[in-house]
Parts: sequence; C-alpha cells; structure tokens
Amino acid sequence: MYEKFYQLTEKPFNTTPDSKFFYPSPKHTEALNSLIYAINERKGFVVITGEIGVGKTTVWRTLMNKLEPNTKVAIITNTHLTCKELIAEILEEFEVEYKPGTKQKLLSQLNKFLISQLASDINIVLIIDEAQNLSPKVLEEVRMLSNLETETEKLIQIILIGQPQLKAKLENPRLEQFKQRIAVYYHMSGLSREQTENYIFHRLKLASSNGIDIFTPKAVDLIHNYSRGIPRVINLVCDSALLSGYIYDTKKITENIVSEVIKERDFNNLPAEEVSILNPQEIKIFCCRDCEHYTRCDIKWNKGTHGEEQLCCSKCADYSRCVANVRKVKLN
Ligand SMILES: Nc1ncnc2c1ncn2[C@@H]1O[C@H](COP(=O)(O)OP(=O)(O)OP(=O)(O)O)[C@@H](O)[C@H]1O
Ligand SMILES: [Mg+2]
Repeated sequence: MYEKFYQLTEKPFNTTPDSKFFYPSPKHTEALNSLIYAINERKGFVVITGEIGVGKTTVWRTLMNKLEPNTKVAIITNTHLTCKELIAEILEEFEVEYKPGTKQKLLSQLNKFLISQLASDINIVLIIDEAQNLSPKVLEEVRMLSNLETETEKLIQIILIGQPQLKAKLENPRLEQFKQRIAVYYHMSGLSREQTENYIFHRLKLASSNGIDIFTPKAVDLIHNYSRGIPRVINLVCDSALLSGYIYDTKKITENIVSEVIKERDFNNLPAEEVSILNPQEIKIFCCRDCEHYTRCDIKWNKGTHGEEQLCCSKCADYSRCVANVRKVKLN
C-alpha cells in the first residue's frame, strides 16, 4: 500500500523468514558459519539457541543455499512428536520408502538408508527447528540417532534449533549425556544499535531501486531500545512506522512517528476494558468507516487548512463533507 509513496519495489519489513533479505550481522554470520563448518566437517551434533524472533529460522533457510551439492537435508518443524513419530517423519522427509512397524523396525530402515548414502558419499543432515518443544524422551532419542556412526564417520549430522527453553532443557542432569555430545553450540542474541541501523538500511535497500534513507538516527535509537535488536520486532515497528508516515504524508520517519507506533503496539495489547476507559482527547490516528484497521487503513488522509481537525480521504478533497467518516483511536 505505501510502497509507491516511498518508491519501494516491495514491502521491506515482512515478518516471514525470507533468505533474500538476509542481513549478515556478525551474530547471524557466525551462526551460519558454525552450521556450514559442522556440516562440511561432519561434526555430528550442533545446537543453536536464540531469543524469539532473533532470526534462527532465517539462518537455516539461508544455509540451504550454501550447502555442497552432495548434501541431503531433512527439516522437521513439527516438534510435538513421539519417538516413533519422529523417526517416521525423518524417513518421510528423506523420501525413503519405508515399511511401517515398531520404532525398532523404523530405526533399522533409517540405519540402512544412512549407510547406503554414506556409500554414495552423500552427507546427510537433519535439522530440527522449534526443538525447545521436544520432550526429554524424544531428545534422548535424538541423541541415540547421533550414535549412528561407522568406525570413522558420523552417519548423520543433527542440528537442533530452538528458543532459550531448549538451553534450559539441556541443563537437566538427565540430559548430561546429550550435552556431552554437542560438538558445536551457538547462542544468538539481538542486534546492537549500529547493527539495527544497518539492518534497517539493508532491508530498505533491497526493497528499493535507489537505496533510501528514511529513518532518522533518533528514530533508529528508539526502535533499537524498544526491540532490543530483535529483528522480528524491528520489522513490525518499521512496517507500522512506514504506514504512519504514509498516512501523515511524510517521507522521513522521525522519533515521534516511531514513538506513536510503539505506544499503539502497547495500546493494542491492553485488555478490552482498559481500552474503553481511555481519554478521547488523546485521540490521534484516523481510519475510514469501512476499515477499522486504524494504522493499516487503506485511505490516505489529506489535511485541510485546519490540520487534523479537517481531515479528508485521498479520494474526496471535500474535507468536512468527506464520506469516509473518520474514526479515531487513542495512541498514548
Ligand atoms: N539476519 C537477518 N536478516 C534479515 N532478516 C532477518 C534476519 N534475522 C531475522 N530476520 C527477520 O526477522 C523475522 C524473524 O526471523 P525468524 O523467523 O528467523 O526468527 P526465529 O528466531 O526463528 O523466531 P522464532 O523463535 O519465533 O522461531 C523474519 O521476518 C526475518 O526475516
Ligand atoms: Mg523460527
């Protein structure tokens, strides 16, 4: 909706883990390199943890474009599984035609498949994302899988990726054996202030033909403080800020705009009864009768000579007679 206004070719701050937008911050690059190293050197067992929204899924998606051609990967993202379901899922992901049966039967078919791949010099990699949801029992099963090896080589490289609870789970003394197997461990945290600025610029540049500088340094300060450098939160705030800039018809995103967006985000998280007692005098954001999405309202508002008291939709220019029937929402 606002892309044309800022001369963007697409939305720069989507919240999908799109590897095309990958910004190689030192932390993301280190996590990525740890994975590449562990896979190429057939290290066996790797664990990557990181805060919610920090970019774990983005890292392994980016990894997919960097693997040697002789690598085969299975990715498991549904982690609410029993041990047997996990083995079946792995067989399916590797497209092995297997005969159903007991867990032991499935395991022996998996073993057979792995040995055949080793004979063809195929490097087999299993990635389990959202691994914080695996039960201790299934984690133990995963450890057993990492035991599948010949005298000289691991048959399967296993990468576990998860939120900080995964790290906490691994502290359980029952999983000591598991912990001792981890060949490479990396924890991802948020971006620094400078990296946040580079990240925002990187995404804007990829989404524009000429490379643009929309956010003021103070706006970036605020985004960094609020998001603690977590990319998903940065994206959400930047996307809403661009939309607000568009609504207010300003191409520079200042700290005031960001501050309003942040207040609105917190406001939207308030329980319903708190929303109803808000002071209407603090109302600032506008929305048409049809939409009620407020900051996401499709209509562009023009200001008359009396500023915000004389708002009108982009279609009408009739100010006080505007049929869009402005609705308002409190921001602070
Ligand atoms: N290095 C990066 N470069 C570009 N975008 C990134 C980067 N890291 C994260 N993002 C963006 O941040 C958002 C969240 O990333 P992602 O889904 O990878 O986080 P996550 O750590 O897997 O989150 P969760 O804990 O919820 O699984 C996505 O929009 C993604 O594109
Ligand atoms: Mg993820």
